[in-house]
Amino acid sequence: MKIDKNVRLDQFTTLQVGGVADYFIDVTTMEELREACLFAKQTGRPPLILGGGSNLLVSDDGYRGAVLHIRISGRDYASDARDYVSPEETVYLTVGAGETFDDVVAETVSKGLWGLENLSSIPGTAGATPVQNVGAYGIEISELIVQVEAVHTTTGEQKIFLNEECGFSYRDSFFKTEVGRLWVITAVTFRLSKTPRPKLSYNDLSPLRKNEDVSIDAVRAHVQAVRATKFPDWTKVGTAGSFFKNPIITPAHFKQLQTLYPDLPGYEQADGRIKVSLGWILDKVCELKGYRIDNVGLYDKQALVLVAYDGATATGVKKFTEEIKEKVRAATEVFIECEVQFV
Ligand code: EPU
Repeated sequence: MKIDKNVRLDQFTTLQVGGVADYFIDVTTMEELREACLFAKQTGRPPLILGGGSNLLVSDDGYRGAVLHIRISGRDYASDARDYVSPEETVYLTVGAGETFDDVVAETVSKGLWGLENLSSIPGTAGATPVQNVGAYGIEISELIVQVEAVHTTTGEQKIFLNEECGFSYRDSFFKTEVGRLWVITAVTFRLSKTPRPKLSYNDLSPLRKNEDVSIDAVRAHVQAVRATKFPDWTKVGTAGSFFKNPIITPAHFKQLQTLYPDLPGYEQADGRIKVSLGWILDKVCELKGYRIDNVGLYDKQALVLVAYDGATATGVKKFTEEIKEKVRAATEVFIECEVQFV
């Protein structure tokens, strides 16, 4: 196991900001993970678990401790005879946490296995998808996750978390909690289907509804095309996709906002509350699409996407987000939260 010292973290996050970590360890096997956890314990600070760094804002002061860069690979396809409902239709795919998620999506699409296609072009690793319950175009990854394998960073315990033990909700899970952060995800198992199961309810996918026999390739290609119009290229500019969560408000509050803004999109949740489109609020109510202070701004094609331009700092990003939060509160009395995790 190789331990690097004083490693700049900006090169490992898609926002491309952040300071230096004291120690940085590439973890490619379970054995290395065990060793790395033991080392981290000696630093006296919990390790920072890093995947693709696509949902992380690292402070300009960096990280005083060890970063474990999870690169565990592996893709294992299996059918499960215990699935008495449709054993011949279902395929279980277990992937190592360090696999690039979109490579996994591409492979399942090429094999004609339905499930992940709406989640095309999402940056990051497979092991990070349960943490924030990644979602897009009408699918949340929690709908496809059978189980998550993880190792406890301090006790070394290995555990399988069944779907219902992961505490999934909108852009949230057990693995985002204080206790959950002590677990390193090592593998994730997805349930896929050989039978076509197009999920085309999301508005942006409506052009695909015309074709009754839409192919899985067509769904992936369409999602890729839509995303290309809404998100900046994260290989060229600092970004983390949606920076904020869409807020969930009471029906009374929604009704009140609707009287002022009849077109405000809102979606009823299981508990009766309404999830509203913050991108719409930032754009149409606050007129902040493309708004920029120094090196930080909201993307001019999708206001929910924050862009950290060349020379941006974590302090600058944080200050900018505080200002955005306050503007939204002042205009709508809606309190918003960041989707991106701060380190
Ligand atoms: N809208 C505007 N102006 C904008 C942005 C959005 O009017 O500048 C409107 C859109 O026209 C649409 C509504 O707001 O009516 C929602 O916009 P969109 O469909 O683009 O989705 P979103 O709610 O802004 C969410 C996810 C994205 C995901 C898309 C597609 C969150 C926080 N974000 O964005 O996820 O890709 O839906 O499903 O839930 C991410 O989490 O990082 C992410 C990119």
